[in-house]
Amino acid sequence: MIALTLAEVAEAVDGRLVAVDPTVSVTGPVEFDSRKVAPGALFVAFPGEKVDGHDYAATAIASGAVAVLGTREVPGVPMVLVADALTAMGRLARAVVDRLPGLTVVGLTGSSGKTTTKDLIGQLTARLGATVAPPGSFNNELGHPYTALQAGPDTRYLVLEKGARGVGHVRYLCEVVPPTISVVLNVGTSHIGEFGSQEIIALAKGELVEALPPDGLAVLNADDPRVDAMASRTRARVVRYGEAPDADVRAEDVTLDDRGRPSYTLVTPEGSAPVRLGLTGRHQVGNTLAAAAVARELGMPLADLATALGALGLVSTRRMDVFDRPDGVTVIDDSYNANPASMSVALKALAALGRGRRTVAVLGYMAELGPFESDGHAEVGQLAAELGVDRLLVVGEPAAPIHEGATAVGNWGGESVLLTDQAAAIEVLRGELRPGDVVLVKGSRYRTWEVADALRADASSGNGATA
Ligand SMILES: Nc1ncnc2c1ncn2[C@@H]1O[C@H](COP(=O)(O)OP(=O)(O)OP(=O)(O)O)[C@@H](O)[C@H]1O
Ligand SMILES: [Mg+2]
Repeated sequence: MIALTLAEVAEAVDGRLVAVDPTVSVTGPVEFDSRKVAPGALFVAFPGEKVDGHDYAATAIASGAVAVLGTREVPGVPMVLVADALTAMGRLARAVVDRLPGLTVVGLTGSSGKTTTKDLIGQLTARLGATVAPPGSFNNELGHPYTALQAGPDTRYLVLEKGARGVGHVRYLCEVVPPTISVVLNVGTSHIGEFGSQEIIALAKGELVEALPPDGLAVLNADDPRVDAMASRTRARVVRYGEAPDADVRAEDVTLDDRGRPSYTLVTPEGSAPVRLGLTGRHQVGNTLAAAAVARELGMPLADLATALGALGLVSTRRMDVFDRPDGVTVIDDSYNANPASMSVALKALAALGRGRRTVAVLGYMAELGPFESDGHAEVGQLAAELGVDRLLVVGEPAAPIHEGATAVGNWGGESVLLTDQAAAIEVLRGELRPGDVVLVKGSRYRTWEVADALRADASSGNGATA
């Protein structure tokens, strides 16, 4: 963060200073976990349900925080008092980015692939200048300002994921940190239970391009009609990426190698170049094109771009993390989160990587599908069977329609089992896995994390597969 005096902080957040010297500067970081506080920090105390941050105010000061931003006074603690700490963090983030005129803010949204693509863009911009794009999925009204507050005087690129569970959410995040480049990846069905329909999801995601200034840039997925249509909702220039023949930044002649890694010809208005990705999954074609469109706009020459795309790696955990165990089992840990669209891309990656090998999918419940819950799960099961997955382990009763959807596919040669919990899935895997198998692990949030962790741990603990 840039240094701000407590008087400036109070002005930015409309706060009242209590027991502080207003000329003392916050030099950062801004933290809401007292364990992360460092000298010069501002500690933000949230009145949580289980833990009240105000109880840690004195600890934070002892660790070097210059003041605590909170909603009630704590005796003996220098404070910036506000009505609402979350709003205050947003306002402080805005004050910081407003003081960094040389900063380019890249915002991205979409139903799937935000964190993945944020990590890709961050790796490309890091080649051009100092970048803030931390690992993880900091995309809500807390994580978003928290990330932005990491920008300092040397930061040239700030890459921010913008999540939405309803109309107006992205608009608010864009008020906190206005984007100069907005990337919209796709309009799928995640959180559709809360939104109601895909049209409303499109309405909400499009707020990202509405927030652009006239000299900004909208990077839109030409292969997703609902995203492509957002071109009419912005004053900014538009660059379209995808495999559509008329896309500005596009991929031609896409092929996958035996590890499910795409190669393609990158075609831009400046010419074309061959790209060979080290990332797994057909969906990475679109994600890398989006990243390429951003880097191109920021001045990366085509030849550098092609090389940089080939060097992209994983940053955030549990997303398409492919690893080979010493026992010959290959694991695709895509367990971070799941919705029908991301299940689909992950199952296709399993099929591509598992060609000629036995494929196993461990699939858990997908949250927040509302009225689409039953059909959404059943379609995933159906797809797994249609793709010829050999063994399906469905984890937990709420995910049962995946099992039913798969077994309803008449000519499927594979086998599905519905298991009560992750421990049961781990047991089945330990009994059944053989060298050469490829296993995909995926579900919403924590629903399959234990399975993924066990598969990782087993590789080194002697619990591995035997022929
Ligand atoms: N372009 C894409 N289209 C569909 N699915 C994708 C795409 N990119 C990644 N995925 C899938 O979505 C999963 C989640 O990716 P990621 O964490 O990047 O998404 P996110 O949009 O940040 O999700 P969240 O809403 O949880 O923040 C990946 O592990 C992969 O299976
Ligand atoms: Mg994310």
